[in-house]
Amino acid sequence: MTTAQPRVALVTGGAGFIGSAISGPLADAFDEVVVVDNLHPQIHPGSVRPAELDERVRLVQRDITEESTWDQVLSEVTPDVVVHLAAETGTGQSLAESTRHGLVNVVGTTRMLDALQKLDRRPERIVLTSSRAVYGEGAWRRADGNLFYPGVRNTQMLDRGQWDFTDAEPTAMRADEVMPSPASVYGATKLAQEQIVRFWADAYGVDAAILRLQNVYGPGQSLINPYTGIMSLFCRLAKAGTSIPLYEDGEVRRDFILIDDVASAVVAATLRGTGGPDAVDIGSGETQTIATAANLISEYYDAPSPHVTGQFRHGDVRHAWADIDPARERLGWEPRFSLREGVEQLARWIDDQQGVETP
Ligand SMILES: NC(=O)c1ccc[n+]([C@@H]2O[C@H](COP(=O)([O-])OP(=O)(O)OC[C@H]3O[C@@H](n4cnc5c(N)ncnc54)[C@H](O)[C@@H]3O)[C@@H](O)[C@H]2O)c1
Repeated sequence: MTTAQPRVALVTGGAGFIGSAISGPLADAFDEVVVVDNLHPQIHPGSVRPAELDERVRLVQRDITEESTWDQVLSEVTPDVVVHLAAETGTGQSLAESTRHGLVNVVGTTRMLDALQKLDRRPERIVLTSSRAVYGEGAWRRADGNLFYPGVRNTQMLDRGQWDFTDAEPTAMRADEVMPSPASVYGATKLAQEQIVRFWADAYGVDAAILRLQNVYGPGQSLINPYTGIMSLFCRLAKAGTSIPLYEDGEVRRDFILIDDVASAVVAATLRGTGGPDAVDIGSGETQTIATAANLISEYYDAPSPHVTGQFRHGDVRHAWADIDPARERLGWEPRFSLREGVEQLARWIDDQQGVETP
């Protein structure tokens, strides 16, 4: 009689926001879940294990960019599935700290793949959480119906307050229709990650499941990272009775998706794959202006109304939302939460946290 081998999931960056949210379902589905995470101090206060990480998960506190990390981890475990989440994620920060973003996102990925190759490990699947940032401004449609790629909004355009591209409308992001065209160092490193994982996986007969996530928010989001998490920033400002400042003209559009809906998509991709080579876009399926999101939050906290500042940040794109029909078809997945429900969940969670500082 043969006994089945224990099934192992290895999750890089698995102590972070998304990693913690998938830790319970993965621990239910696998015999062992091993997380490699350096508990980066920009995200983890005091670099301690987060309470949200399922207690069944084994945490190896190591840096994915170091070769010795992989020698240690892969001598101890043979992963059936790798979920690659570890990354530097600051879009604005990535312009000033491009080496750090390149090192973690690109070299961290190649280190992992080199080690898998060196030790002859072939997981069934590698799941990569890529980002909407790979599209940059995406494709826009002119009045005559033709699509074009407007490229990066440059300093001159932003300085004169010209936020949109003239005589054109943005379109939804969808991997099989819209070409990647990053507008930030972060976006460029996420696209490099995608391509590196895809080449490696194809060469070694490994399934690559690549998800391009829109703006994820919700309970468990880092409350100390100043570079990511606009919804938690807005909540903390409104909670302190401050009027939320809105960049550009407040009409920037985003697709905010609650962490629970992202977790169910990542778990589905981990267990079943994405059934095809194209990346899959994950969003709420709705587009909202930043002003709408800020108003919901201000109302929840009974704070003064948000105000438009006209400020801007290089690397921020004007509008972003996903066409999620492919995700519905290929993952059998559906987002469940509205923005209002999500904002309430996030705000209630923040209200329960101790020592939350006003930004
Ligand atoms: N949250 C979003 O809105 C969003 C959107 C699109 C894509 N993504 C992608 O999803 C993934 C996870 O994002 P998240 O929101 O959970 O981010 P997060 O910052 O909460 O988690 C990332 C984790 O990686 C760890 N980490 C960072 N550098 C590391 C290193 N050198 N070695 C080991 N661990 C390291 C951090 O300690 C952290 O726990 C990232 O790849 C990100 O690019 C996130």
